[in-house]
Amino acid sequence: MSETLLLALDQGTTSTRAILFDGRGKAIAEAGKPLEQHYPADGWVEHDAAEIFQASVEVLKAAVQKAGRAMAEVTAIGITNQRETVVIWDKATGEPIHKAIVWQDRRTAPTCERLRAAGHEARVSETTGLLLDPYFSGTKIAWMLDEVPGARARAAAGELLCGTMDAWVIWKLTGGRVHATDATNASRTLLFDLKTQAWSAEMLDLLDVPAALLPQVLDCAADYGAADAGLLGAAVPIRGVAGDQQAALMGQGCVKAGEMKATYGTGCFMLVNTGEFLAPSRARLLTTVAARLGGRPTYALEGSIFIAGAALQWINEGLGVASGGSGVEALAQTARPDHGVVLVPAFTGLGAPWWDADARGALFGLTRDAGLAEIAQAAFDACALQTRDLIEAMRADAPQAFGAGVELRIDGGMSRSAWFSQRLADLTGVAVGRASYQETTALGAALFAGLGAGVYATVEEAASARPATERYDPALNAHAREGAYARWLDAVARVRTQT
Ligand code: G3P
Repeated sequence: MSETLLLALDQGTTSTRAILFDGRGKAIAEAGKPLEQHYPADGWVEHDAAEIFQASVEVLKAAVQKAGRAMAEVTAIGITNQRETVVIWDKATGEPIHKAIVWQDRRTAPTCERLRAAGHEARVSETTGLLLDPYFSGTKIAWMLDEVPGARARAAAGELLCGTMDAWVIWKLTGGRVHATDATNASRTLLFDLKTQAWSAEMLDLLDVPAALLPQVLDCAADYGAADAGLLGAAVPIRGVAGDQQAALMGQGCVKAGEMKATYGTGCFMLVNTGEFLAPSRARLLTTVAARLGGRPTYALEGSIFIAGAALQWINEGLGVASGGSGVEALAQTARPDHGVVLVPAFTGLGAPWWDADARGALFGLTRDAGLAEIAQAAFDACALQTRDLIEAMRADAPQAFGAGVELRIDGGMSRSAWFSQRLADLTGVAVGRASYQETTALGAALFAGLGAGVYATVEEAASARPATERYDPALNAHAREGAYARWLDAVARVRTQT
């Protein structure tokens, strides 16, 4: 049998990257391209879908070329993507009718508010696992149909298609032959019924989105057709698809109930696998599809923190501490012990579990001898303490997932710091497993593709290709840990605008 080569496309918010892996999950070569951000109005964020597709083709080819391999040797392609970002296009011409509206875009806040005021949130949550927030795709689709002249009529005439970035890239890569998405991406639209695993007629009606626009929903490891040979140079099969956080969950090998990961980038996304248990959240987390394989969904609880690494960036750029994140880390380590400074980095509001868009950041506990070092440490601690907020919320929603020996697997920029990894374990009281390889999102997409192509017989076999983790056990005494958390909760209470 020829050597396995799995080609992952990671279409992220700020860049589009491709990584070629072997069957054991080892990266062979990678290529990437930054993505231009468009901010046409306050709170609006858009991407050019044509640029995304063009970059996808370029990086897929470049990664294979850099490895000195031929596209025809690639076993399968796996696609992972920024979730919720959505585009509508003309199915005859392939031209988008509008720029893609990005997950960060807040333009549909009034629609969400109106639906909430009309009492729809409980039903939306029960059906989709999500909240009425502009973050998700559904209200963005309706906005484009309402605002682009003639769009509703064209949709009614069956001329348009829509999809998240996976569906868009798949449709383009297959020369318009396949219009499909996977269950994890579908579960981020506000239109997908978690229990029936199908588009919800009730949600489509509520959000005024015609069903005919939507892609078919497939498993994460499935037959998504083959890339057009004219585009990539060979008709490589597309066999794996998942939203980026779910792909990272897979890339970290979190395939069983109770396994969890947190990715520390600008913000932080934390997911705990709840297995076949669809845990409704009472703690304002999201319930989402972790993966769907063989037609069977597994679920996850998800919490997102808006500001994680961005707090270090603020110390670096805003407060002028030199040498980037490592400079801030070095400074933080010189902080006086027991300084009591608390930073709530609610620069753009508070995410889960508080969901307070109007809250703003604040510093508490300043004394005459507090300086930049203490503030820098407070910024790292804020990331750890926000993670503790999510852990507490997850523990409340799915206590069975938090048995003895639970480990939080981490990746992303901040996880490069061994000091932060220890601090995270200390302040959360949960053991931390730091991934030795950071690109778990791309790896997860490759592993799903490997499963879809029959390289791995089971999801457990695929997951065994996850990177090794370095373990950090909590070392801080419970008194100090609970004291720090109590000060944090007090500080959060002071910045909140809603209770
Ligand atoms: O839900 C949004 C998330 O999928 C975006 O991830 O890594 O592209 O910022 P990222």
